[in-house]
Amino acid sequence: MKNYIDLSDISDLEKLISESLKLKAENSAAETGKGKTLGMLFFNPSLRTRLSTEKAARLLGMEVMVMNADKDGWALEFEDGAIMDSTKAEHIKEAAAVLSQYCDVIAVRAFPGLIDKHKDESEQVMNSFRKYASVPVINLESATGHPLQALTDAITITELNKKSKPKVVLTWAPHPKALPQSVANSFVSMMKKMNVDLVIANPDGYDLNPEITGETPVMNDQKKALENADFVYVKNWSSYDQYGKILYTKESWTLNNEKLKQTNNAKVMHCLPVRRNVVIADEVLDGENSVVIQEAGNRTYAAQAVLKALLENK
Ligand code: CP
Repeated sequence: MKNYIDLSDISDLEKLISESLKLKAENSAAETGKGKTLGMLFFNPSLRTRLSTEKAARLLGMEVMVMNADKDGWALEFEDGAIMDSTKAEHIKEAAAVLSQYCDVIAVRAFPGLIDKHKDESEQVMNSFRKYASVPVINLESATGHPLQALTDAITITELNKKSKPKVVLTWAPHPKALPQSVANSFVSMMKKMNVDLVIANPDGYDLNPEITGETPVMNDQKKALENADFVYVKNWSSYDQYGKILYTKESWTLNNEKLKQTNNAKVMHCLPVRRNVVIADEVLDGENSVVIQEAGNRTYAAQAVLKALLENK
């Protein structure tokens, strides 16, 4: 593996999932990363991604450097040819080249602005690091994708699944803030690579990018979509059509136990952080169907498998 920027960087998904589960079973330190350094830059907040990726790197024997790039670093210019006479003090050309001297792998989190769809879809930050870094780059959640979360979700479904082809429902849920489509995009792309029966449930106006959803059935009736589901993945996202907007909040889409009755005793997943009693009701998060903590635990092994593949260039 050369980079882990989007799911197309995975050459053999089954092998990567097996490797993650093997690392989870072993849960031991290794020498693969000895003498190597992971540098992580966060332009946005994080709990799981930051700590699980750091833990993964340390389990491989790596040194880790973390920077809150939005607060502690120089403001970066990403436009080629820019006349830098305003607030941006450093160009990504120098920043990425310098970081490549200090780090063997660079990992970056940079959320979308959710104002300019075209700009967000150009993935300027992630692609600039890809272009100007001379070491592998990992996407820790970008404008349009969260591939480490998607790998985690694939691992979690693989270890819990009891069927040859489980029904997986990705359902939109309400949220007071406008959130990116990144997690939902990567989850859909990942499920399309797996042997699952995927259905998306969202209210009218919240359809994801059709280039990502493709032929996946999209239902506006959440209750109907949930029928016989084996896995329910709950997530909010802002409108893609009316880009970055909250059209309405639809409290009736909060996942509760009554709705779970429609399912095949489904496991309930969410990437976290989750707003209790807005996105998912307490009774579900505190009940035995919720696997959100196990899912978050798997973030370490997804990151470990990706880092190992990058270090070994496999
Ligand atoms: N799921 C996830 O990416 O969590 P954080 O935002 O806390 O990293």
